[in-house]
Order: sequence, then structure tokens, then C-alpha cells
Amino acid sequence: MNRRHFLKAVTACSTSIMTSMAFGSVSARPVENYVFKAIPSSGEKIPAIGMGSFVNFNFVQDDDILKQRTELLGQFFELGGTLIDSSPMYGASEKNLGYCIDKLKARDKLFAASKVWTSSVDDGPSEIAASRQLWRINQFDLLQVHNLLSWEGHLEHLLDMKKQGGLRYVGVTTSHGRRHSELEQVMLNQPIDFVQATYNVIDREVEQRLLPIAREKGIAFISNRPFQRGVLIDWVKKHPLPEFARDLDCDNWASLLLKFIVSHPAVTCAIPATSRKDHLAENMQTMTGVLPDQKMRNQIVSHVASL
Ligand SMILES: NC(=O)c1ccc[n+]([C@@H]2O[C@H](COP(=O)([O-])OP(=O)(O)OC[C@H]3O[C@@H](n4cnc5c(N)ncnc54)[C@H](OP(=O)(O)O)[C@@H]3O)[C@@H](O)[C@H]2O)c1
Repeated sequence: MNRRHFLKAVTACSTSIMTSMAFGSVSARPVENYVFKAIPSSGEKIPAIGMGSFVNFNFVQDDDILKQRTELLGQFFELGGTLIDSSPMYGASEKNLGYCIDKLKARDKLFAASKVWTSSVDDGPSEIAASRQLWRINQFDLLQVHNLLSWEGHLEHLLDMKKQGGLRYVGVTTSHGRRHSELEQVMLNQPIDFVQATYNVIDREVEQRLLPIAREKGIAFISNRPFQRGVLIDWVKKHPLPEFARDLDCDNWASLLLKFIVSHPAVTCAIPATSRKDHLAENMQTMTGVLPDQKMRNQIVSHVASL
């Protein structure tokens, strides 16, 4: 463990202790109850809830929104979060994230995960360099080939970057259940550290092939679209929270849905995107208390199906 990663680990622990004092019921749990999951290729543990940035950080320059999002990210780090996912595809998100992270002086807490997204393999390196400048960081922790776009050439470059010490982890993404067979082949045949795909209580196709392969091959799994870009969470929130949620230390639907995701043994983290502090607090509650066992997971699936 180098100095940067040691500092990250210490910060995560002390943050959690401060958090348990500062945020009342949201996280008033002993630090050992925080959910960290190991990245199989290294053993490094990361918090099970990260932050997506597709819509929530894609806005035109506006001082009030920048201030609010800076506070939001400050709360994310205070509540023990580290991994933030973005992409050159997300308009101004990387630029706005870079501003907030710089303002918060939070680089040591950050696990920076972005993507390469260009059909031209030759343009990959310059796109990555531009992203790095927008994020205002020296190096990414994780770079993923976005939506498998020109993945053969980009993967070669990313794996080479990792070999040269310019990158810690390499991954590939998809979403909405697209191109799972091709992704499966990449997972089986390429030395990737991470894979990212859609997984939530409704979209469970990855349980058939991708999650078992991730487990077998030792590939970390990031669950995107945990709330179906808001459709799922807006729908369930119209219904009362089931009684059994209390047994899982959940007092809101968001943490129940996220606990379903991160309790799968092959899932490393989920990346809900939010622009609201109250929603962030709900999402981060996932990292406290107990996680559902298989019986409870089945109960969550059948309860949501019955709504
Ligand atoms: N192919 C790929 O690589 C790929 C594809 C899709 C997504 N992703 C990644 O995955 C991330 C997450 O996916 P997503 O952004 O599509 O959608 P999502 O995280 O499933 O849902 C985001 C929506 O949920 C709402 N929300 C969040 N927390 C909530 C809460 N506690 N209560 C009620 N509403 C809540 C947000 O609204 P508020 O702002 O009002 O909270 C927002 O409208 C993306 O941001 C991106 O980083 C990657």
C-alpha cells in the first residue's frame, strides 16, 4: 500500500467515525459496520456506494449550482464515499466534478473512475489527457472503455497505461442489458479489473452470467442505473416501505434498493446519481447496519414485484 492509498484508507475510517457523530440517524453506527467491498484483483477495499455523474453534474456554468454540488460532494466524502464515476460522454460533468473536487481539496479521498469514449482508437490517449485535466487530477484510479466502443484498441492502451504505472485499474462498461454476450467474452478473455453494467431489483439479467463470471474471474462489478435513472425509485416511493426494511436498518426505499444490489456477493459497488443532499443521505445509509441474506434478497424482489 503506497502513501496515497494508506492515506485514503485512514481518511475513510476517520471520516466514518466523524460521520457517525455528525449525521445522526443516517450513520449513527459503529465504523466496523460500514460496508466496504474488496476489489478482487488487488484486495483494496472501497465503500459499497459511489456516485454517478451522468445528469446531476452535467450543467452549464452556474455559480449557485456549482456551490450546491460542491457541498453535495463534500457530504458524499464526509459520509465515507470515495468512488465517483464519469465519462467524456457526460457533457460538462467532468469539468464540474473537477471544480468541486479542487474546491474541496478532496483528491486524497477520491477514487476517480472515468471512461474512454471515442470510436477512434488513435484519439483515446488525447481524450484521456483532456479528461484528466478536467478532473484536475494527476492520474485516474480506474479507466473504463465506455459501452464497449472500439474496445479492442482502447483496452490495449489502458492495459499498457496500467503496466507503465499511469493507471491503477482497467475496466469495460455497458448498460441497459446491451451487448452482454460480447461483454462476457471480454470478461473471460481479457485481464480487466472492473466491469460495469446495469443491475437493480428489476433489471436482474446479470445474475445469470455476468455476476457469476465476475466472481469466478475475480473482476470487480460496478452496478450502474441502480434506480433506472429515477423511474424505479420514484415508483417505489409511492408505496409504503415494507416492515421488513427495519430489520435491515433501512428507513427509506433508496437504501433498501441499494442494499439489495450491494449484498450480491459479486457486486463491488453501486453508483446512484443524485443532485440532492437528502437523497444522498438516504443512499449512503446503505453502508450502515446489516445487509440482506439470500432469503431477504428474495423477499425484496417479490415485494417489489407485487407493488
Ligand atoms: N454505460 C455506462 O457506462 C453507464 C450507463 C448508465 C449509467 N452509468 C453511470 O451510472 C450512474 C447512475 O445511473 P443514472 O444516472 O442513469 O441513474 P440512477 O442512479 O439509477 O438514478 C438517478 C436518478 O435517481 C434520483 N435519485 C437518486 N437518489 C435518490 C433518492 N434517494 N430518492 C429519490 N430519488 C433519487 C436522482 O434524482 P435527484 O437528483 O433528484 O436525487 C436521479 O433522477 C450514472 O450517473 C453514470 O455515472 C454508466
